[in-house]
Amino acid sequence: MSVITTKEILLKATEGGYAVGAFNVTNLIQLEGVVQAAVDKKAPLIIQTSVTPSKFLGRDVLVAIYRAIAESAPIPIALHLDHCRVVEYCKQCADAGYTSIMIDASRESFEENVRQTKEVCDYCHARGEISVEGELGTVSGVEDQIKVAEDEAALCGPEQGVEFVERTGVDLFAPAIGTAHGIYKTAEPKVDFERFGRIAQLINGQGARVPLVIHGGTGLPRDYVEKLVSLGGSKFNVSTELKHTLIDTTHGYVSEHRDEYNPGKIDVAVRDAIRDAVARWIDMLGSEGKA
Ligand code: 13P
Repeated sequence: MSVITTKEILLKATEGGYAVGAFNVTNLIQLEGVVQAAVDKKAPLIIQTSVTPSKFLGRDVLVAIYRAIAESAPIPIALHLDHCRVVEYCKQCADAGYTSIMIDASRESFEENVRQTKEVCDYCHARGEISVEGELGTVSGVEDQIKVAEDEAALCGPEQGVEFVERTGVDLFAPAIGTAHGIYKTAEPKVDFERFGRIAQLINGQGARVPLVIHGGTGLPRDYVEKLVSLGGSKFNVSTELKHTLIDTTHGYVSEHRDEYNPGKIDVAVRDAIRDAVARWIDMLGSEGKA
C-alpha cells in the first residue's frame, strides 16, 4: 500500500468517529505482533518508538524494516517518533524516514513550546509528507524513562490549545486532559472529559482540521476510551501494556519451559500475546475494517 500521512489516516478517523491505535514497540517481535493484529483486523496502524529504542535499534534500521513492512502490507501504516524533547533529534529522525514526529516541548514555557514545535513543523513540512504532533499541558507518569510527577502535570487550557495549534501549524495535537503514562493508581482515573470535549469542539467542530491525540492508553477503562473516541480522540497511544505483555509472556514461557533452549518459541509466544493485546485495542477503538 502506498504510504499515506498520519494526518490523513487520522482525519479520516476523526470524520468517521473511530480512533487509530499508536503502539510503542521496543523490538522486532513486538513490531511483528502489532502489524499482524492490524493486518488481521484490516485496521490502519501507527507504529511508534520512543527516543531510546530509536537509538539502540538505530533509526535507519527501524526505517528500513518499517518500509519493507509498509510497502507490502494491505493497510496504511505510519512510523512515528514519540515524545522527543530535542529539536535536532526530531529533524534527524525526519531525515532518516520516520513519517511522523512528536516534538514534546510541553515542559517548556508556552512561548518556547510554540517556538520549538513550529521549528519542527516548518522543517518537516518543507521535507514533504511528514506529520508533526505537539503537546500542550503535561501528562503525568513515566514514558521512556522520563518521569512527570502528578503535581507537575498541568492540563491544557482550551483557548490556549487553539492558539497553540494555529501558531505552530501542528498536524496532530495532544492536549493534556488528565490521562497518565504507565499504570493508573486508581480504578477511576481523573480524566477531564468536559475539557476534552471543549477542545475538540473548538478545533474540529466546524469540520476535522487537526486530529487529537490521547496519551496514556494503558489501563484506561473501556468506557473512558469509548467516551474519548466519541468526543473526537483519534490517536490512542499504548506503550506500557505492550512492555508488560513482552516481559510477562517471556517470564511465563521461560518459567514453564526451564529446560528448553529454543528462542524462536519464546518469540512466537510473545508475538501472539502482543497480537491479541493489540486486537483488543482495535476492537475498543472501532478501527477494525477501516483500512
Ligand atoms: P502508556 O504507557 O500509559 O500506554 O502511554 C503511552 C503513551 O502515551 C506514549 O506516548
